[in-house]
Amino acid sequence: MTAPLPSLLISISDGVIDLGWGHPSPRLHPTDALAAAAQSVLGTRSAAPLQYGAVQGFGPLLESLAAYLSTQESYGGPVAPDSLFLTAGASAAIDLATTLYATAGDTVVVEEPTYYLIGQIFIDHGLNVVGVPADGDGLDTDALAELLESSESPKPKLLYTIPTYQNPNGSVLPVQRRRHLIELARRHGFTIIADEVYQLLHYGAPPPPPMAMLDDSPGGCVISLGSFSKVLSPGLRLGWVHAAPGIVRRFVESGVAASGGGLSHFAATLAHATLEMGLLQENIETLRRVYGQRHDDVAGLLRAEFGETVDFTPPGGGYFYWLTFTNGVNTDALLPAARESGVSYRPGTAFSASGGFADALRISLSLYETDELAEGIRRLGRATRNGRR
Ligand SMILES: Cc1ncc(COP(=O)(O)O)c(C=O)c1O
Repeated sequence: MTAPLPSLLISISDGVIDLGWGHPSPRLHPTDALAAAAQSVLGTRSAAPLQYGAVQGFGPLLESLAAYLSTQESYGGPVAPDSLFLTAGASAAIDLATTLYATAGDTVVVEEPTYYLIGQIFIDHGLNVVGVPADGDGLDTDALAELLESSESPKPKLLYTIPTYQNPNGSVLPVQRRRHLIELARRHGFTIIADEVYQLLHYGAPPPPPMAMLDDSPGGCVISLGSFSKVLSPGLRLGWVHAAPGIVRRFVESGVAASGGGLSHFAATLAHATLEMGLLQENIETLRRVYGQRHDDVAGLLRAEFGETVDFTPPGGGYFYWLTFTNGVNTDALLPAARESGVSYRPGTAFSASGGFADALRISLSLYETDELAEGIRRLGRATRNGRR
């Protein structure tokens, strides 16, 4: 008999605690909230949820989402409904932004390290991907300025950045660098795709505002991306573009929206119902509390297990801890032994186009509860020590 086709993206070998996956814990799926939303959306027998939706996205959600974001400390100001366009999640939005703002052969700049699954979207579009260094404060905008001034480097059409709780290194780009980046985009004529899916997931002080809130360029040069994947459920495939009206218009006029109507329209009606009922707000509070506790627990567990042999900075939000070994461990070489010890992770080289970060790895706090995170970290420590004998 052939094995049944899989239901989910995630796949983990039996007996392994795979700290590599940035997926939410099954216990945290807001099943009750979405059941209540579905009841309210379908219970009235209205045609609205099941019809083709408006091209910019379901109007009531554009309004309720803008009102919600406007109250958020991490947004730092009002968000207008006409600055939003609903998407089928950040990944699909990056694909669409690339369709609209680049053509095959163009150059896209990404930070090193960057979210490893995004590179393939740019390659699918035939783009030339060029890395720029990032440090503990995110993208090094001085290094970017140097690259842009150099007559040898191709002029980019796009720059892809994760300014808030970066995947993988957890860094947060300070406001001065955000402004510098916008100034560089204006001067050199490229568009910034700011992947801000963790913007609402802060566990203490809020991060600086999304890049779109700082974009003062004529016509706009920033496409900020939010996602319901990290605050409600990834299965909804729902997110938003946040940008200047001219950029929003480009998305509204895209062929895919013209033919299929608003993206993920049914999911948008559900998300709107959760906002109307206060359930999304409650869910975000729960996620901040639960992930915030895990975030603190993981910092203590790592310190206890690794002492000075690993460098890391608690990110303050998002999903990821980025560990850099100070004692010569090669995380690609360690991986088979780690799996044998019942633990896995994403090695640093996965986040680099040039094979860098062989001394680093990424773990996620999202999938497992603290006791399993603790066991995974203990196994990782054991594998590291065994590997060095
Ligand atoms: C930086 C970043 N961007 C995008 C995504 C995927 O977002 P979405 O589910 O909205 O496509 C992830 C998920 O891990 C992510 O970490």
